[in-house]
Parts: sequence; C-alpha cells; structure tokens
Amino acid sequence: MERILSGIKPTGQLTLGNYIGALRHFKDFQDNGEVFIFIADLHALTLPIDPEVLRSNSRDIAAFYLASGLDPKKATIFLQSSVPAHSELNAIVQNYLYMGELSRMTQFKDKSAKMNDKEIGLGLFAYPVLMAADILLYDANTVPVGEDQLQHIELARDLVHRFNYKYGEVLVMPKGKVNKVGARIMSLSDPTKKMSKSDPKGDIFLKDDMKTIRKKIMSAVTDMEGLVYYDPVNKPGISNLLTIYAALNDISIEDAAKQFEGCTRYGDFKKAVADTVERELGPFKARYEEIIASGEYLEVLKEGAKKANEIASTTLKRVQKAVGLLVLE
Ligand code: TYM
Repeated sequence: MERILSGIKPTGQLTLGNYIGALRHFKDFQDNGEVFIFIADLHALTLPIDPEVLRSNSRDIAAFYLASGLDPKKATIFLQSSVPAHSELNAIVQNYLYMGELSRMTQFKDKSAKMNDKEIGLGLFAYPVLMAADILLYDANTVPVGEDQLQHIELARDLVHRFNYKYGEVLVMPKGKVNKVGARIMSLSDPTKKMSKSDPKGDIFLKDDMKTIRKKIMSAVTDMEGLVYYDPVNKPGISNLLTIYAALNDISIEDAAKQFEGCTRYGDFKKAVADTVERELGPFKARYEEIIASGEYLEVLKEGAKKANEIASTTLKRVQKAVGLLVLE
C-alpha cells in the first residue's frame, strides 16, 4: 500500500499558502493509502522561537489537521519530537549528505541571507538532513508539499541513491507531489514573493477573522490594466488571485479565467475570490475552534505517537544494521 507522509513546521501562523499548497490535500490520501502527517516541531527550533509560541503553534497545527478532515482512525497524526527515531536517523544519514549540497539549498540561502553569521545555527544549515530522516523513517513513497519543498525532497532522493548504492535496497525512494494549481501561492502585498508565515500584510493567516481576510483580499496588489487573465510574469497579482480562486474551487486556472472574461472591475473579481475563500475557510475555522476548545487533539497526538514510533523504530533498526551498528534485540 502506498505510504504518504508530510508535515508542517509550527513556526509562525499558518497561511492560506500552507492550506492550499499542502494541508487541504492531506485528507485526499487517507482512503487509499497509509497516511502519516506530523508537526515538524524540531524543525521549528532551527530559527529562534519563544517556547510558549512553539507550544501554542503546535497545538494549532494539530487542530488544523483535524479540522481539514484528516481522520485519526485512518491517518497517523503525531509530533515529530514524540518519535526519537527522527533524531536518531538524522544522526546516521547526516553522514551521507554533504556541505556543498546543503549550502546550495534555496531555503537556507534565503533565510541565512537575512541573518548575520553568528546567528545562523547548525540546525538551519542541516535542516534538509532531518527532513530526509522524517521521510525515510516511514518508507514514504509520496510526499505532498508545496513547490518550495521540492528541492529538499530531491536531496532526500539523492541520499537514497547514495545510501542504497552502498548498502543495498535499505531505503525507500520517496517522490514529492505538488498540485497542478496552487503549489506556490504568492503574497497579496507583493505578488512576486511567496506567501510565507512572516508577512502580516501580504499573508492570509488561517487564524485571521473573516473580515480581516476579506479586507486583505480586497486590498491585494494588482495592476492598472483592468482585465482578468492569467499571466504570472506581467500580472502577478491577478494571476495569484486567479490561482487561489481556481484551487479552492477545484477547477483549472483556464476555467477560472474563463469565468472572468469580460470582467473589467477588479473589485468584482476580488469579491468573488473573497467569497470563495470565505466559503472554504468559514466552516474550516469553525471546526478548528471546536477542536482547540475541546482539547481532543491531545489524545490523537498520543495515539499517533504510538503508531509512528512502532513504524519508525523498525526502519531505524534496519538502517542501523545496514551501516554496521551492533543492534541488540
Ligand atoms: P512549511 O511549514 O514551511 O510549510 C508547510 C507546507 O506548506 C507549503 N507551503 C506553500 N504552498 C503553496 N504556497 C505557499 N506560499 C506555501 N508556503 C508553504 C510547503 O511547501 C509545505 O508543504 N520543511 C517543511 C516541513 C517538513 C516536511 C518534512 C514536509 C519537515 N519535514 C517532511 C514534508 C516531509 C516546511 O518547512 O514546511
């Protein structure tokens, strides 16, 4: 059976980009495959974060997972830090990834460029190593992510080639899976930049109230042409809104564009986008509120950790044996 694995890092607040690019799709796999979805809390430590904020973000992601329709009876939902094998496999596979390739990672280059050298922790540099361990521990075949994570998955694939060449078929080759529509949602205030967790003006946060969300959409940066069509180079703002509209309506961008042919008022178009977002996020946010208030996610995380630990420790042993560690059973 196909194994699917993905995770979200509890750094800032989750955005509409996280939702469209990743979260919204996790549930689609749970009826046909074995799904492992985790909160990448160890990854959140790679940049400075307040302990209370980290804890509260982790709770939020657990509740968002459940609100998105992931069913804990079908999918294993857990915290990365509840499964020590992530760190243990990390300690092994770090020896098969190299400084040169890690320093070429776009995410590392972007994040470290904004910091001074003394602040850049080893964890930020070695981030893709832990991410590879996350994926490989569960023998995942498919890793649904947004476009920005594909480079990390490619590195995990390189690692598998290298490792299996040396030790035989020990690790399963994973494959990244991005959606045709919405793999890269852009900022509403600067549509040439990716929507990320750290830009309050251009981001739609899943915890924003509906009024704020609508306001952000209505004031999204566009252009002066007054025509709605898809051209991400010359019309990045309109193209981004069309992408959001198409993704949330599960239609192609072409079909979305057709619906607005002849529309000359950006205000009308933006209102249609806002209505679509509200239709989707309204019920989702209501479920999130219920789940966070009930605390039911805690039991889910505990159960998930048990199942995840079972699978992960089996893989870990296989790898330990392959590299020559003396495994005492
Ligand atoms: P993170 O927490 O940055 O993002 C979570 C997911 O959201 C996607 N995403 C987007 N998709 C479309 N448009 C955007 N603007 C946008 N912004 C973010 C991301 O691609 C991701 O799928 N390294 C990962 C977490 C991780 C992980 C893993 C993922 C750790 N280990 C193993 C998969 C497998 C991260 O930081 O995602």
